[in-house]
Amino acid sequence: MIETLIQKAIEQMKFSYAPYSNFKVGAALLSKDGQIFTGCNIENSAFGPSNCAERTAIFKAVSEGVRDFKMLAVVGGKDGVIEDYCPPCGVCRQVMAEFCDLDEFQVIVAKSMKDYKVFRLGELLPGAFSPKTMGR
Ligand code: THU
Repeated sequence: MIETLIQKAIEQMKFSYAPYSNFKVGAALLSKDGQIFTGCNIENSAFGPSNCAERTAIFKAVSEGVRDFKMLAVVGGKDGVIEDYCPPCGVCRQVMAEFCDLDEFQVIVAKSMKDYKVFRLGELLPGAFSPKTMGR
């Protein structure tokens, strides 16, 4: 499954709309019921409204009524060439913490289908402010 997610994330890079940074990112999110939601980064001339690939995938799923997730793979690189791991930005980590268990949800950062690292969300966002903090 990890390799499938990485493959789908790599495929998503071609849809990336990144005319300002030329940094193309793709993500693939696996829900607990076995669906895969993909996403790419979508930039904007006003910069602020830009959206990362991970959040695109998460928001697509949530907007279709799916909120329970197992893992997400993310890949990215300048001009669409993957040279290194692409770790999720802080905002995406916080969005993951809204919907995903810090101790269980896995984030896969990959250079290829064979070369990847797996993190628990809690490792990427220690001491997170989360729905639990809000009593939910
Ligand atoms: N980006 C992502 O889509 N995900 C990440 O994890 C890091 C950064 C995007 C945002 C922007 O379009 C471009 O990469 C450069 O920061």
